[in-house]
Amino acid sequence: MKERIESLREEALAALEAAASAEALGSIERRVLGREGELTRVLASLPKLPKEERPAVGAAANRLKEEFLAALERRARALSEGDVEGERKALGFDPTLPGRRLRTGSLHPITLVARELEDLFSSMGFAIVDGPEVELEHYNFDAINIPPDHPSRDVWDTFWCEGTSGLLLRTHTSPVQVRAMERLTPPIRVLVPGRCFRHEAVDASHEHTFHQVEGLVVDRGISVAHMIGTLRTLLRGIFHRDLEVRLRPGFLPFVEPGFELDARCPFCGSKGCGVCKQSGWIEILPCGLVHPNVLRAGGLDPEAVSGFAFGLGLSRLAMLRYGIDDIRWFFSGDLRFLRQF
Ligand code: DAH
Repeated sequence: MKERIESLREEALAALEAAASAEALGSIERRVLGREGELTRVLASLPKLPKEERPAVGAAANRLKEEFLAALERRARALSEGDVEGERKALGFDPTLPGRRLRTGSLHPITLVARELEDLFSSMGFAIVDGPEVELEHYNFDAINIPPDHPSRDVWDTFWCEGTSGLLLRTHTSPVQVRAMERLTPPIRVLVPGRCFRHEAVDASHEHTFHQVEGLVVDRGISVAHMIGTLRTLLRGIFHRDLEVRLRPGFLPFVEPGFELDARCPFCGSKGCGVCKQSGWIEILPCGLVHPNVLRAGGLDPEAVSGFAFGLGLSRLAMLRYGIDDIRWFFSGDLRFLRQF
């Protein structure tokens, strides 16, 4: 019996040494320690041996089992670390090659600028609100003091929905002013980022689809001073420094008085450059005190409350901020452009 164990030992250890794959190891293990394995059979036959032989043979068989299992493990480790060639063949691919990196996307520059403004205005107590992109003529025009025959409707020429009366693609975010007034009670502070549409001849600075941000504050005793303070904070948030501002009179039917807000050019320190067209000032946005007719359309009493509003071209702001020279990049879908943000 002892000789049988000894020859089994030599044979099994040599087979392990010669094995070239995990499968080969598996079959050796089955041959030695499987249900019908040779060593299994030796162990099973122990009770039938004469009493005196049992302890020595049993000890030798158990020693072999331990030795065999240790050798099996060692060989398996050596194969998995060392035998890349064999494994490569078995797997059909090279497991040592580095993985393919998945490209993550990035936020669109318009989204980046919108989120920055949302954070800034949220910190001043503004609610971020939304309105429909397919809008009623009533909110886009009439309710904000642009009656049907008003010549300024030409400025906001847009896409009308066929077959339905009075449905159009909104030309600005201003309709949300009245929607907000109808829903909220003063004090109202809302910021409305959103997509707008116009029937435009497309060029480097005009798109049929673009983004704006509307701001509206309504409360008792709101004045131009509140508006200037808020807009200076807006500029500080965008350009990260205090910029001198000036107001020029401007006309828009939904504000009275209406203004154009300019800031000292942050790009050249007001010395004159391409961005400010050598004037030292850049146009930031139109703004003004909310027209009494607009307050009335929103169900508010112009004798009791007043407000200011502004409309910021988000697309234009993103262009200024990132030095983008053509508005058409935004919807170009060109990854070379998008991957820069
Ligand atoms: N809605 C205007 C436009 O699209 C922008 C605007 C101007 C909005 C003045 C305002 C405002 O709220 O007070 O041209």
